[in-house]
Order: sequence, then C-alpha cells, then structure tokens
Amino acid sequence: MSVQAIGTRPTPANRPAPLPRQALEHIPGSDGWPLIGDTLSLLADPKGFVEKRAQRYGLVHRSYAFGVTNVALLGPEANELVLLDTEKLFSSAQGWGFVLGRVFPRGLMLLDFDEHRLHRRALSVAFKSGPMQSYLTQLNAGIANGLAQWPCGSAFKFYPAIKRLTLDLAATSFLGEELGSELEGVRRAFVAMVAASLAVVRKPLPGTKLSRGVRGRAFIVDYFNRQIPLRRERGGADLFSQLCRATWDDGSLLSNADIVDHMSFLMMAAHDTLTSSLTSFVYRLAANPGWQQKLREEHHALGIARTEPLPFDKLDNLKFTEMAFNEAMRLAPPVPSIPRRAVRDLEFKGFPIPAGTRVTVNPLFTHYMPEIWPEPDCYDPTRFSPEASRSRHKFAFVPFGGGAHMCLGLNFAYMQAKCFAWHFLNHFRVSVPSNYRADWSMWPIPYPRDGLAVTLNPV
Ligand code: HEM
Repeated sequence: MSVQAIGTRPTPANRPAPLPRQALEHIPGSDGWPLIGDTLSLLADPKGFVEKRAQRYGLVHRSYAFGVTNVALLGPEANELVLLDTEKLFSSAQGWGFVLGRVFPRGLMLLDFDEHRLHRRALSVAFKSGPMQSYLTQLNAGIANGLAQWPCGSAFKFYPAIKRLTLDLAATSFLGEELGSELEGVRRAFVAMVAASLAVVRKPLPGTKLSRGVRGRAFIVDYFNRQIPLRRERGGADLFSQLCRATWDDGSLLSNADIVDHMSFLMMAAHDTLTSSLTSFVYRLAANPGWQQKLREEHHALGIARTEPLPFDKLDNLKFTEMAFNEAMRLAPPVPSIPRRAVRDLEFKGFPIPAGTRVTVNPLFTHYMPEIWPEPDCYDPTRFSPEASRSRHKFAFVPFGGGAHMCLGLNFAYMQAKCFAWHFLNHFRVSVPSNYRADWSMWPIPYPRDGLAVTLNPV
C-alpha cells in the first residue's frame, strides 16, 4: 500500500501561497519593529507578551515575529475549534513544519488528515497495554537506579539531573538495553537534534545548533537503519522493536524510512516535555510540603513495600498524584503554544481568517485565564478533583492538545510521572527555601533559569 499516494502531504501544488501582509489587516494587532517585528519581546516573556496583547487587542489578534505574521486564537473555544478541527480547516504539518521540519521531517505531528490517521493507527500498537507494561518495568528499574545516585543533604540542581535521567530512561524504554557502546553516540546525536528543533537560527549554517542537529539526524538515521533488520528478526519489548514490527492496515510492515522518522520524532516529543513537566512537578511539591505528604500517604495506601517497583495495575489508584501533576502542567504547560496553518477560509468570533493564515492556540494563556482558574498563580491540585473538573470547558486544560493530534504518549507521560513520584517520594523529602520562587523561562519549553536547586533528605 502506498500511504504517500493516499495522503494529503502538502506539496508546493496544494500548499497555500504565503499571504500578502495586507490580507490580515482587518485583524486587530500590530507589526512591531521593522524586519524583526515583536520577536524579541516574544522571546523575552512569551506569557506576558500574549497577555498584554490579549488585553489590548482581544482574544483574536495578530503579531509579526520570526519573519511571519501569526494570528493568535485564544481561550477554550479557540482551542476546541483548532485542535478538534471537525471541519479539517487546519494543517498541523504546515504549522509545525516551520519549527521541526528540518530535523524531524514526517514525524506524526508533521502529517495531516488521512495520511496522519493511517500512521497514527500504525504507531498505536506501541502504546497498548502489553508494551506499556514492559516500558514500566524499564522505568521502575531505571528510575530506582538513577535516584540511588542523587545526593542527600546538599543543594542539588534538579533540572540537569532529571534531563539526564529522562534521556537514559528513553534510551532503555525506547531503544532497549542492548545499546552498549553506541549509547553515548545515540545520546549525543539525539541531544543535538532536540536542541536544533528549538534553535532560533533556522538555517543549518556551520557552527549553528541546526547544523549540529542535521549531523545528529544523519547519525541516528544510520543507527536505526542498521538496527531495523536485527530488531525484526530478534524482537524485543522496547518501543523501537515494537515499531519495527508495526504494520499498516493491510498487514505490510512500515518502511525503514517511516520507522526512522517516527522513532526520532517520538524521542523528541517525549524528552523535553517529560523533563519540563517533572521539573515543575517537583518544584511545586518542594514548595508545598503538605501536598508532598499527601502523595506519600496515597503511596502508602497501596500497601506495597516502598522499595518495590510500582505495579502497572496500581497506576489508576494514584488519583492525588495525577491531580498534583496536572496542576504543575497547568502552571507550566510543556508545549506552551501550538501552531497550525489554515488550509481553507474560515471565520472565528466575527473575524474572517483566509486560507494560508498561520495561527496559534495557546495552552499557557488558557491555563492562566482568571475567569476559569481563580487565583491562577496559586498551586492548587484540588482544581482537578472530579467535581471541580466537571463544570469546566473541555478545552480549558490542554497540556496534551486535543483532537486528532492529541498527544499519543499521554498515558506514557502519566505513567512515567507516577513511577517517578513513587520512587522519588519514597526515597526523599524535597525542599526549597521558603522565600524561593523559581524563575521560569517559558520559551521554548518551560525550564527554571537557575536549574532549580533543591535539597533532598532521606524519608
Ligand atoms: C508531559 C509530557 C508531554 C506533554 C505535555 C506532551 C504534549 C503534547 C502536545 C501538546 C501534543 C499535540 C501537539 C499538537 O496538537 O500540535 C503532543 C503530540 C504528540 N506527543 Fe506528546 N507530550 C508529552 C509526552 C509525550 C511522550 C512521552 C510521547 C511518546 C512516548 C509523546 C508523543 C507524542 C506524539 C507522537 C505526538 C504527535 C501526535 C499526533 O500528531 O498525532 N508525547 N504532545
């Protein structure tokens, strides 16, 4: 089956031409400085930037940054329109292609409509309950091992440590244990690819992050291509081996090129998002010892010795852990804004939006709307109790997006967060000084500028 032939991959022929600037002049907003527009203000403070503009111009407004005009569509109704996309009005490929296309071409988020649906279905096998249980076995072992090396009693920078641990966990649960001498090369190539996807300079000029990312990709492509036949023959419970055996609807195997593109993309999609969300989770627990204790009590109630692995069938029991993690992601959504490009004319809140318009929805803005989240800066996991959640708009909390492109690794992310919380809180009490307020950079993915110095003490 030729998936390419069925698909709606944008080609120069069907991709809308760039819009002339005047096509969006009816949308409130401004162009900022000549040439650079508002790029610098947006980079300096993405949250403040969009909040100020929303106040001045409203929930639908335009800006000029990174060399393109973009229309912000803000709030839960906009999230629903764009993410659910019942009318197939928005291309994800043409939104994300600008950011990710060079290093992660043809990842799932860079496919649209029918073609995307076929690929997503083929990849879903890797996220079914059987494989997930194997990943949890790897996560339990890897986390227990990693935490055993974290120091007690002295100040400890959490962010670089969790970044490293998340990468090591991805290496085993995604690629299997037999990386051996190739581990360091894969790790380095992969770090370069992730850094490149978020680089400001969008041309692979010598010495830039993008050129290192392109080299990293060449290394990874070579590694995966060598491994695919071996994995097909030998099998394995890791995610890569699952994809090597994944099939299209007619039973034929995915091509090497498809596996390479999907694997690289999956590792990127998982790595920084998990690093960011676990960092904000631990920061909030450190600053809120009452919640830390509540989660420990929830763990004790499972009736399992605290040195044991977290069993798969207990994941659903960790309700408070999930609420506390959700509230951390509300305050620092790992994907703060989501780009799309309109492929057909539409109208939203009375504003005509022509085909070809670049639009973004903004989880970060939505998660702080005071009319939805009273006292939005305050950490309060009870916002996610079933009663409190019931009356809220379904698209008011969107850390994982929604609709056809909703995060495929959502269950993996909750599983890793719960497994991490289980081992971490069973080992350590975590604290920050009472007057400490982490200074978050919200771009490109939320992270604490100072690396988040915490103190760990034995429980
Ligand atoms: C806390 C952690 C995570 C967050 C907050 C997160 C967030 C997101 C968001 C917002 C999207 C949708 C983007 C869009 O609509 O354009 C997305 C898509 C995706 N995520 Fe995640 N993600 C996380 C972890 C993971 C993990 C662990 C994996 C893989 C194991 C993963 C794999 C994917 C994939 C494959 C897509 C593309 C889905 C598609 O286009 O159909 N993510 N993620």
